[in-house]
Amino acid sequence: MASEGKNLVGVDIGTSSIKVCEIKEDRKGSRSLVRFGYHPLPPQTIVDGHIMNAGAIVEGLERLFHKVKRRDVALRVSGHSVIIKKITMPVMTSAELAEQINWEAEQHIPFELADVQIDYQVVSRREDQGQMDVLLVAAKKEEIGDLTNLALEAKLRPKVVDLDAFSVQNCFESAYGEPDPEQTIVLLHVGASLTTLNILAQGTTAFTRDVVNGGNAITEEIQRQLGISQEEAEAYKCGSAQGIVPDEVPQITREVVDSLAGEIQRSLDFYLATSGDREIHKVYVSGGTANVQALHDEIAERCQVDVVSLDPLLVAQPDPKSVDPMALQGRTAQAVVAYGLALRKDRERRPA
Ligand SMILES: Nc1ncnc2c1ncn2[C@@H]1O[C@H](COP(=O)(O)OP(=O)(O)OP(=O)(O)O)[C@@H](O)[C@H]1O
Ligand SMILES: [Mg+2]
Repeated sequence: MASEGKNLVGVDIGTSSIKVCEIKEDRKGSRSLVRFGYHPLPPQTIVDGHIMNAGAIVEGLERLFHKVKRRDVALRVSGHSVIIKKITMPVMTSAELAEQINWEAEQHIPFELADVQIDYQVVSRREDQGQMDVLLVAAKKEEIGDLTNLALEAKLRPKVVDLDAFSVQNCFESAYGEPDPEQTIVLLHVGASLTTLNILAQGTTAFTRDVVNGGNAITEEIQRQLGISQEEAEAYKCGSAQGIVPDEVPQITREVVDSLAGEIQRSLDFYLATSGDREIHKVYVSGGTANVQALHDEIAERCQVDVVSLDPLLVAQPDPKSVDPMALQGRTAQAVVAYGLALRKDRERRPA
């Protein structure tokens, strides 16, 4: 999308915490991170994508935006209420596509059309075959409405709602440049409750999948096996506990990571078997659970692929005048979606 205007403030309301990023771009196009905010949310604030404790989110937003003037925000909607499909259609003009898209959506989306917001983008055209690929996105209106209402309640002005998969991709492309069309790249975002996979081939999204699994599963298993509280288990897992970490913790972490890596491997195998693509060149991981080294190692070994962390600092370095480097330390992997959202602008045009 052509981007114009001023950057929006990226607000990523996740299961475990709210992340806020604001990026400033000067006239020459060089960027800096002028604000970073992090606010942990109590457990059970969001369950299976449903907001159970709206008060905790509004309070968090109010704190994060205390005395902040710029309130035009880009929000992320959870993958629980979104479907992304890549469909093939005959080549047509954008006016014809606009007319046709609802009919196509009806065939491909298992929700009532009246209940969803549809968006789409032509990702490739094969004029010789008379075909084009269109990325179709359907998000439940109710969930978008709930989310924007929370933001409005905290006196924010939501301008854009995006998905994790595309926000991570925005962050990736800003950090590393447009993907090499010869290479197949996997963007893997592993949060607390959700894992999002976005495979880029020939420079565009070729395959996406959400897996309802993430870092919470590790915490819950440590909690269960050791009979300890959620806070203790979380601290052991993140290496932030005082005192000695029980020997079982790394072992339990590896067990849970193994099953998550297995699901990821199956998705990648499915993609390779169905796309005709022969090889995956690199996996970039982000999300808080990207801090778990065992996850990198397990995916690298199972899939025989290079696994690296997606570094959002390549998009914009913190401005020391307004961002405390300590606040961002250890949280860069978690900030990737908010970074991607913060790249969105208040005036954007759909390409013709
Ligand atoms: N240093 C660390 N080591 C291990 N796990 C970590 C570390 N830091 C964060 N995590 C884990 O990352 C997860 C939070 O990541 P993130 O902020 O990306 O999730 P979220 O956006 O809140 O959740 P979701 O997007 O799944 O709704 C938690 O499970 C947390 O325990
Ligand atoms: Mg998240």
